[in-house]
Amino acid sequence: MAKAPDRITIRRPDDWHLHLRDGTMLAAVLPETAGHFGRAIIMPNLVPPVVTGAEAAAYRDRIRAALPDGAAFEPLMTLYLTEATDAADVAAAARSGLVRAVKLYPAGATTNSASGVRDFDKVRGVLEKMAEVGLPLCVHGEVTDPAVDIFDREAVFIDRVLDPIRRATPGLRVVMEHITTTEGTDYVRAGGPDIAATITTHHLVINRNHILAGGIRPHYYCLPVAKRETHRQALRRAATGGEASFFLGTDSAPHVDAAKETACGCAGCFTAPNTLSILAHVFEEEGALDRLEGFTSLNGPAFYRLPANEDQITLARSESPVCYPAKLETGVGPVTIFDPGFPLHWAPI
Ligand code: NCD
Ligand code: ZN
Repeated sequence: MAKAPDRITIRRPDDWHLHLRDGTMLAAVLPETAGHFGRAIIMPNLVPPVVTGAEAAAYRDRIRAALPDGAAFEPLMTLYLTEATDAADVAAAARSGLVRAVKLYPAGATTNSASGVRDFDKVRGVLEKMAEVGLPLCVHGEVTDPAVDIFDREAVFIDRVLDPIRRATPGLRVVMEHITTTEGTDYVRAGGPDIAATITTHHLVINRNHILAGGIRPHYYCLPVAKRETHRQALRRAATGGEASFFLGTDSAPHVDAAKETACGCAGCFTAPNTLSILAHVFEEEGALDRLEGFTSLNGPAFYRLPANEDQITLARSESPVCYPAKLETGVGPVTIFDPGFPLHWAPI
């Protein structure tokens, strides 16, 4: 039998869904991504959200100012879609290259989404303009109807919201963010070249038992919430199967421990520090290390119509486990780093 590789060199990865926050937290978490990733799609759910082109430019400048010396990381900015968003401002921000996507949060779906969309008719003009200029819409694909079970909210969103939007807006390019279900993978596969999906690192690792069985584990709670094992297996097939419409969006979403370990804890897993180690482990387990590069470094740029990064990174496998700290100290409190629950042997060198 051929010896398993202990080194793999791939184009530098990008993260197509990342929360960097602002201020002290931004300064603490940014190096964790900028150290290994070339670019990231930066989520706009600050408080208040990043709605206009001018706000996106100011946020981009704060991110650049927080970069470690010499880091070549490029933030790809997004706008937070509200019912008052101005189509002309979106088009101008897209044309100048400042903004690479617009993010749709159904109002109330997740962390800092109160300004999101309630009445989809009110954003029709913006969506039509986006279809015209080819600007992708990133969707948080969960309905917020309290009558819908939280484990069904992604599937119901596809039927009630996403499919009607796409039918009403031909040519609109859509990224279903952080998909968690077979309904999500099936919908993307059937949807042709104008739809793609990001998959997080943690949804390839945990199912809902990890959150709820044997004690409640707040650091595994994120939105969309992890589903049952059959869905995790479907996500693994989608991520490791070499299909161009699936690519990495970590959804690394730092919250201080005090906000997670409490009676009503925030949603979000912080995976930026060990994401590449975990992904190499998952792809090796699936016998798909040769497809890691497509998932982390090629499929995303192709969908966003950007060149892949020119430079490369190497991941090496060591016999002894690679140790990551349990927490990142941030200046506003510790943030727990996602624990995959198994020893990691791969790491970028
Ligand atoms: C994200 C956050 O904390 O901003 N949380 C999460 O669980 N993923 C918001 C989001 O992407 O839903
Ligand atoms: Zn997110």
